[in-house]
Amino acid sequence: MIVLAIESTCDETGAAVARLVDGRVEILAEVKASSAEIHAKYGGIIPEIAAREQVASIIPVIETAMKTIADSHQLTADNVDALAVAVGPGLIGSLLIGVETAKALALAWKKPLIAVNHMAAHVFANYIVGEKNQDNGVPELPAVALIVSGGHTDLMYMESLDNWKWIGGTRDDAVGEAFDKAARMLGFPSPNGALVAKAAQMAVQNLESGSRKLEMIRLPRPMINDGSLEMSFSGLKTALINIVGSPSFAKATEGSSREQIISALAREFNEAVVDVLVKKTMMAAERYKPKSVLLAGGVAANQLLRQNLEARSQKSGVKFFCPDLKYCTDNAAMIAACGLMRPTYIDPLELRAEPGLEIK
Ligand code: KG4
Ligand code: ZN
Repeated sequence: MIVLAIESTCDETGAAVARLVDGRVEILAEVKASSAEIHAKYGGIIPEIAAREQVASIIPVIETAMKTIADSHQLTADNVDALAVAVGPGLIGSLLIGVETAKALALAWKKPLIAVNHMAAHVFANYIVGEKNQDNGVPELPAVALIVSGGHTDLMYMESLDNWKWIGGTRDDAVGEAFDKAARMLGFPSPNGALVAKAAQMAVQNLESGSRKLEMIRLPRPMINDGSLEMSFSGLKTALINIVGSPSFAKATEGSSREQIISALAREFNEAVVDVLVKKTMMAAERYKPKSVLLAGGVAANQLLRQNLEARSQKSGVKFFCPDLKYCTDNAAMIAACGLMRPTYIDPLELRAEPGLEIK
């Protein structure tokens, strides 16, 4: 089966064509446009602008994907067996563009339509044939999945492909949101967790080259030892503000440059968040005894999280999977993967955007 998938939940417009090969997803074309740079100027996503950019990008992005499969695989719309589209969760204005486009194409081409849950699709990115998962094979179920994105931090128990149970997660801010706030506080040019992670990496190099005192900067690991699978990240921002005003901070930063201090704060923030995520995921693994641990969502691009969760999973004898970096943040390939692995067909005339859709 060949699927043409559309992603338009937020500030990315994506189209991908994919097919199933031996229980995994092979991507034949993937195209993405993003309005992230425009939003960066405003310090956060402006839904109205995101929606307008979706309108401008959706047709060119789909056309480019179709041209790619024509050029590289001699495939046309006739070879597409179904359309798949992310119906939520997301921003209503953005979602509507993808949903209405998919509906129109399904009706015009007389093809079946698959409704995809965007958050579940993040998890299905682990089924895409890529560099990272090449040697590990298909993720075996049952699995515990840690889904970490801008709006979500969830631990799911996946009994089978379509039987998922929520077993834990944040009670306040999502991890991505916490990273975005930290980026803003530390004065980075855009509120993006990837910049915090990059600065954290520089801090590790700084420490190696001498500024040892900066190691004294410590943030709390919220709820890490409370024995539950719940998490909380909203207090970390306040902790970051408080630490900057403390006497121990003045002592730790004596003689260091502004850049060294910011990267030391980024390192500690990054480590605090990753420590909590790894601890809670491994607790879930101990309780539920899964065959695999799957990492998913935009924050899954975080190198420290990938490395530490992989190391701890291996130590516990559980197989670890995470998507290639380009399939962590929003993309249409993962929508195709979910559509192929777990197709939920829907009459195009019944299809609705569902901004508040829960993960399942
Ligand atoms: O999944 P995603 O692309 O969009 C949502 O569905 O929310 O996730 C975006 C989130 C943002 O909050 C961004 O700051 C965060 O993922 N992010 C990272 C990294 N790359 C992206 N957070 C920490 N480290 C990274 N390397
Ligand atoms: Zn997402």
